[in-house]
Amino acid sequence: MSTEPMPGSADVPSLQELRSRALAAAAPRPYGADAAIACDRVVKIFTADRVEVQALQGLDLTVDRGDLVALVGASGSGKSTLLNILAGLDAPTAGSARVDGRDLLAMSAKERLRYRREVVGFVWQQTARNLMPFLTAEQNVALPMQLRGERSTPAAARRRRQRTAELLEALDIGELARRRPAELSGGQQQRVAIAVALANEPAVLLADEPTGELDTDTAAGIFDAFRTVNRELATTVVIVTHDPMVAGEVRRTVAIRDGRTSSEVLRRTRIDEHGTETVSEREYVMLDRTGRVQLPAAFLTALGMQHRVAADLATDHIQLRPDDTA
Ligand SMILES: Nc1ncnc2c1ncn2[C@@H]1O[C@H](COP(=O)(O)OP(=O)(O)OP(=O)(O)O)[C@@H](O)[C@H]1O
Ligand SMILES: [Mg+2]
Repeated sequence: MSTEPMPGSADVPSLQELRSRALAAAAPRPYGADAAIACDRVVKIFTADRVEVQALQGLDLTVDRGDLVALVGASGSGKSTLLNILAGLDAPTAGSARVDGRDLLAMSAKERLRYRREVVGFVWQQTARNLMPFLTAEQNVALPMQLRGERSTPAAARRRRQRTAELLEALDIGELARRRPAELSGGQQQRVAIAVALANEPAVLLADEPTGELDTDTAAGIFDAFRTVNRELATTVVIVTHDPMVAGEVRRTVAIRDGRTSSEVLRRTRIDEHGTETVSEREYVMLDRTGRVQLPAAFLTALGMQHRVAADLATDHIQLRPDDTA
């Protein structure tokens, strides 16, 4: 008797197989264990004038190593709050946040300082906020390396000079190394700022509306610079942006609504046998760790779904139908 599987049966799992997989998956496993960023039900509450503002309301987000992600969302949705937490500038009220394997809630003040210097790089919207006005571009880039506190041997100084030159070159501003911020355009200052943020080879580069103060053409150039960094230095990059053009150019755009991740758009580029490139785009809704999804309001209204739905497992999808017991 042959033990060969039925044709195709290796690819298409049976319903039985899917059910046992579902059971096995119920066993606990570390969340976002090897992700660059793993936020799990992050809550941030601000209290101003005795009024509580829930800026983040149980936000879940994972970002893979080497990814380039755009974060979008209405004003006040919590984007900067999230970035400040990831940058180690602010602590979450509850939940867990890990960046490059480090638990942001469990860090001491000393570890936090080290984290900000060595694990993350940050670029602000306000060009002036990113740089020391009295230092030249190359001195600005060298500064984080000096603050890192390695001994100042001639060899270390040489390494610093070399990395500074490489970074300025990679960002196309090699010839501006000796200029101070006031002698640079907004776009050039942002390029220096990216070099500064990358000086200590951070695992993650965070940018909060880095093109917000720039005109469209300059902004496109800066965005290209982020892409170059992501591609050539393999740095994980997260950019908050209002710019629909930026969001339209990255592989993954995550939308935040009311302090939670609500949906995301993934874009894929395919090249067919004639070398023609097609880009496909699809919007996904978030699935949280407990299995909750937030379905688009328009879908629910169209089918009159409320309170509960009937869910059935099929071989390659889940069917949701309106509650028919009503
Ligand atoms: N330090 C603070 N104290 C009190 N409330 C704050 C503080 N920082 C932010 N908030 C509030 O938290 C909410 C989220 O703010 P956040 O700055 O994260 O929004 P955002 O998505 O970055 O908006 P924008 O696109 O305008 O920059 C807002 O309601 C804001 O008023
Ligand atoms: Mg903001």
